[in-house]
Amino acid sequence: MTYKEWANDELKKVRVKIEWVAENNKYKIPYTTDENGVYDNKADKEKNFRIDDGVNWWTNGFWAGIMWLLYNDTKAKKYVNDARIQEETLDRAFDMFYGLHHDVGFMFVPSAVADYRLTGDMTSRKRGLHAANLLAGRFNEAGGFIRAWNDLEWCDTRGWAIIDCMFNLSLLFWAGEEIKDPRYTHIAVTHANTVADAFVRNDGSVCHIVEFDPETGRRIKSHGGQGYAHGSAWTRGQGWALYGFVNAYLHSGEKKFLDTAVKVGDYCISKIGPSYVIPVDFDQPEEPDYEDSCAACIIAGGFLELAGVVSDHEKKIKYEETAFKILETLAKTRIDYSKECEALVKNCSAAYHSDVHHTTMVYADYFYIEALYKMAGSDFRMW
Ligand code: GLY
Repeated sequence: MTYKEWANDELKKVRVKIEWVAENNKYKIPYTTDENGVYDNKADKEKNFRIDDGVNWWTNGFWAGIMWLLYNDTKAKKYVNDARIQEETLDRAFDMFYGLHHDVGFMFVPSAVADYRLTGDMTSRKRGLHAANLLAGRFNEAGGFIRAWNDLEWCDTRGWAIIDCMFNLSLLFWAGEEIKDPRYTHIAVTHANTVADAFVRNDGSVCHIVEFDPETGRRIKSHGGQGYAHGSAWTRGQGWALYGFVNAYLHSGEKKFLDTAVKVGDYCISKIGPSYVIPVDFDQPEEPDYEDSCAACIIAGGFLELAGVVSDHEKKIKYEETAFKILETLAKTRIDYSKECEALVKNCSAAYHSDVHHTTMVYADYFYIEALYKMAGSDFRMW
């Protein structure tokens, strides 16, 4: 069986599952499932009242993203309707403004921008451009980076940039291409250059957080973030870097970004064990053996993109094979196609030191489905 045939077989099961899950969750913005396998609702104002949670939660574009992937495949109008309910709900986040930060890329690329790309809807285009302006407004010119989060209760984050932001750059690349204004592209390219220089270590692993002096732009230090320890390699961060640098290369043509993606990808291959199960951190101790299937999906997607652009044939084969083995392992052991749970991907962990491990996360489902479509040969590009 070819990789493509395998992916198409998995997608048959995905279509069946998403059909009933979408029906159950029409008016929600899901993030994770409870003990009964039922999705929560980030749009529930009563339960989610923190400024950085609720409708402002950074993963709130991924449910719409799943709906758009399924619409692009099946052309079933119900997925357009479901995606738009979520997209319209996210207007409340624009109104609140204070809870939004650099993750407007994650929020609005798979929702509003995907809608515009697939249907030409002009209200969605406006939402995408509005989000791109918010992201561009976070650029620190002295340091050449996009500020990550707003101030945290315990610290001043004006000089903080994080690796995850490599994915938010897609919003700027899209806006630059859409309105033919290179300012957005300049900011995205400058940020990616800064990250290549300030985050990527000699062995190809990447830091999660780097702090710059917000006045002078000087690099001060790195922080540990969601991984095991300071200096370790949080796997989801490696995924954001690998896939994010390929995206930056595809949008800008800058060879440095392709070389960086290859360096991060080769580092990941050197650390992925024979089981192809992805831990939360490549440097974590053997026990407890926390996994992050979400990182697995993102790394697999990054390798599939990288395989499409490298000229070295051996590397191409290696990247495709690694992506396949990661996805096949997930499909055999961590994907739930049953009716017991509304989510697909099991054993996700938001952070190594979190109280909760091996849970479900809607963006893992998104990246799993996206990777299957890539492997099956879909030419739709979300990022
Ligand atoms: N903030 C992105 C992540 O947790 O992966």
